[in-house]
Amino acid sequence: MDLEARLSSRVKRIKISATKEMPMIAAQVGGCVSLGQGIPSFMTPPHVVDAVAKALREDPAAGKYSLQPGMPALRAAAAELLRAEKNLPADPEREVAITVGGMEGLLCAMLTLVGPGDEVIVPEPFYPSHVEQIMLAEGTPVFAPLRRIDWGLDVDAVAAAITPRTKAIIVSSPHNPTGAVFAKADLLKLAELALRHEIFVICDDTYDALTYDGPDPEGAFSLMSVPELRHLLIGVFSFSKRFALTGWRVGFLWAREELLNQMLKIHDAAAICAPTPAQIAALASLAGPQDVFRAMRDELHKRRDLICARLDAMGGRFSHIRPRGAFYVLAKAEFPIVDSRDLALRVIREARVITIPGGAFGPGAEGHLRLSFGGAEAEIDTACDRLAAWAEKL
Ligand SMILES: Cc1ncc(COP(=O)(O)O)c(C=O)c1O
Repeated sequence: MDLEARLSSRVKRIKISATKEMPMIAAQVGGCVSLGQGIPSFMTPPHVVDAVAKALREDPAAGKYSLQPGMPALRAAAAELLRAEKNLPADPEREVAITVGGMEGLLCAMLTLVGPGDEVIVPEPFYPSHVEQIMLAEGTPVFAPLRRIDWGLDVDAVAAAITPRTKAIIVSSPHNPTGAVFAKADLLKLAELALRHEIFVICDDTYDALTYDGPDPEGAFSLMSVPELRHLLIGVFSFSKRFALTGWRVGFLWAREELLNQMLKIHDAAAICAPTPAQIAALASLAGPQDVFRAMRDELHKRRDLICARLDAMGGRFSHIRPRGAFYVLAKAEFPIVDSRDLALRVIREARVITIPGGAFGPGAEGHLRLSFGGAEAEIDTACDRLAAWAEKL
């Protein structure tokens, strides 16, 4: 049977991202340290583990499906977070749904809004899964380059990308892969554009709370806090990064009731509900002590300073724009290996360091490697020792 001929056109349009591919190649090479995938190194905090273990032992509901939009207590806690952090008076019963990570929330948004012929504006460099999901929905991604000088949001580039077919724009700040934190003034101009052209805004707040410094003193500004925009807004939130729960697969969505009800149809067809033990972990993270998460953020801040200092000390082999949030830095190769995939493969084979080729994030990141500083300081140091020794020999 000719399998290729029998596959859907949809699946043929998409691919597995380089973020997942590079670790698989490195596993065959062996002995690599990773600056690759975006995983904070921290273990699930003990109070979260205890809450899940207790629930599994004592609560007959803990190992079963939850209500389809999620556990009421978790939806209430999520709504409270939106109220406290984003000034959004969310209705937990009607406007919040718990999803299988931010990723499933994004997919629900995309499959609800986007179909053949629809365009979605994506600031570029981009998070590859945003683009794959647009393609999966049979839409067309339209790239709006970020400012090359500071990876800031270029609202003029977004305006130039708008056509009558534009359905939505994706905004994510702090940003993967650049670590940029977009300025409030630029985000507000983007909101004006969206309102003027009636474009939906998918606000991916996966890295909120992970800022170290930025253009605005109060931290990363989120479009979720703009009341006038709310009828056009879908907010996507993740427990993966700021609560170090990547493996638990839990996040949530906010949208006005009519829109959320449409997305819940996709959620039901795709996942039924988010895993109940993961929802219990998320609730314990939100409701329990917060100092442990603040300490994680402070630790990431130190790691940001460490990796930037190590790059600066590599004799001009790499340059970078200092990231202000998330835990990534795009390191630009200042030597003549232009293809970032070749570069990343050589760095795996010859330096035994996993990085992600910048080209995977769009043309503006070609010639760069994305380095994650989610790993422990010792790991970052070892990887930088190897990278520096390798680059020195070029
Ligand atoms: C920008 C962005 N959005 C969404 C996600 C998905 O996160 P999760 O599904 O783990 O919540 C990621 C993961 O790396 C990301 O970088």
